[in-house]
Amino acid sequence: MKVLVVGSGGREHAIVTAVSKSSRVSKIYCAPGNAGIAGLAECADIGVMDFDKLTDFALKEKIDLTIVAPDDPLVAGAVDAFEAKGLRAFGPRANAAILEGSKAFSKDLMKKYHIPTAGYENFDSADEALKYLETAKMPIVLKADGLALGKGVLICNTLEEAKEGVKSIMLDKQFGSAGNRMVIEEFMTGREVSVLSFTDGKTIRPMTSAQDHKRAMDGDKGLNTGGMGTFSPSPFYTKEIDEFCMKNIYQPTVDAMAAEGREFKGVIFFGLMLTESGPKVLEYNARFGDPEAQVVLPRMNNDIIDVMEACIDGTLDKIELDFEDNAAVCVVLASNGYPVKYEKGFKISGLEKFDGKDSYFAFHAGTKLKDGDVVTNGGRVLGITAMGPDLKQARSNAYEAVKWVDFDNKYCRSDIGKAIDEA
Ligand code: AMP
Ligand code: GLY
Repeated sequence: MKVLVVGSGGREHAIVTAVSKSSRVSKIYCAPGNAGIAGLAECADIGVMDFDKLTDFALKEKIDLTIVAPDDPLVAGAVDAFEAKGLRAFGPRANAAILEGSKAFSKDLMKKYHIPTAGYENFDSADEALKYLETAKMPIVLKADGLALGKGVLICNTLEEAKEGVKSIMLDKQFGSAGNRMVIEEFMTGREVSVLSFTDGKTIRPMTSAQDHKRAMDGDKGLNTGGMGTFSPSPFYTKEIDEFCMKNIYQPTVDAMAAEGREFKGVIFFGLMLTESGPKVLEYNARFGDPEAQVVLPRMNNDIIDVMEACIDGTLDKIELDFEDNAAVCVVLASNGYPVKYEKGFKISGLEKFDGKDSYFAFHAGTKLKDGDVVTNGGRVLGITAMGPDLKQARSNAYEAVKWVDFDNKYCRSDIGKAIDEA
């Protein structure tokens, strides 16, 4: 069969790599893709929001299955657009992707169905929000309702900071129309875990756990980024926690969406905080996480196409997920200055060192081909992933592989997976 993957980052490179292992797939396309993906798939220069061109392309090339990976097109109805033309697509429809598209929606859903999460209030007006803050406990968390490139969350330690935050989200529209509404929620403490899961709208199958590192600098300092590295599994995500989450979070979320007439088929990403009073939901995403996918998918033994088709067809109850009993660590190589200001267009050397190595991957995030060379083309450039029998070995393998690659202004955190030592 022919498969089209929509997207262009490290996550999409990890998905394309998993698809390339399926014995059922004869050809892979990616729109728009990047220089690394181009080694496995034919890239088509079509933007992820150009639904007319994407669906025309899928019809012309007789694509059997399209995988929509990023949040923006999912929330805007990419899967609906493919289905309207009689095409098969993996991912939630717009009415279900709202689970990520509106934080106010997801908080109300959790409240209605008693799914553990931080206490909160939703606001449509800055005046009301400012009034509420006067009697609120600090620190407090402000969230723009809509999609904001993962940056729409402000943690405020003082009333002054919180007031400034409300103004910048709702009045100055720092995150654009994503800030027309906002959520103000209780600050929680604990360890964070990401659990990605496949669902067909009834059955949910969680994948192995992972942990992200969102801040730009060592010691979790600096600005929030799209993610500077990940490891999988999380040693803090025990069997007991998994059982609790299945019963109180995962299955109830899928059932709640179905009960609301918003059947969710695709990947639900649970961002969890393991608090003293049990696991609670920080956020939902309606897709694979990035860079979580870069440590989770290489450990999966299933044929990803079988699993995705079962999600679409409602037969996921027939599938058990199978993960290697090993570990993976991903260190993101970024352009110095990310996430604020950075230069692009530098030649990347050493990528050939990954050729023919099963347990090392250089997933391309922001790269492109220029005159036959692979050059940097984004803030996050590569996700260097290595596997190992355990987390410590995987981490040392990943940092070894980080040295194989070079480009001007190469930057990475040196403490990805530090938490492993505290386990
Ligand atoms: P989100 O995009 O909702 O995952 O938020 C981004 C990051 O902000 C999370 O990964 C947490 O580190 C932090 N965060 C979000 N909500 C809370 C909360 N209620 N309490 C503490 N930290 C939070
Ligand atoms: N790594 C977090 C995300 O994909 O949103």
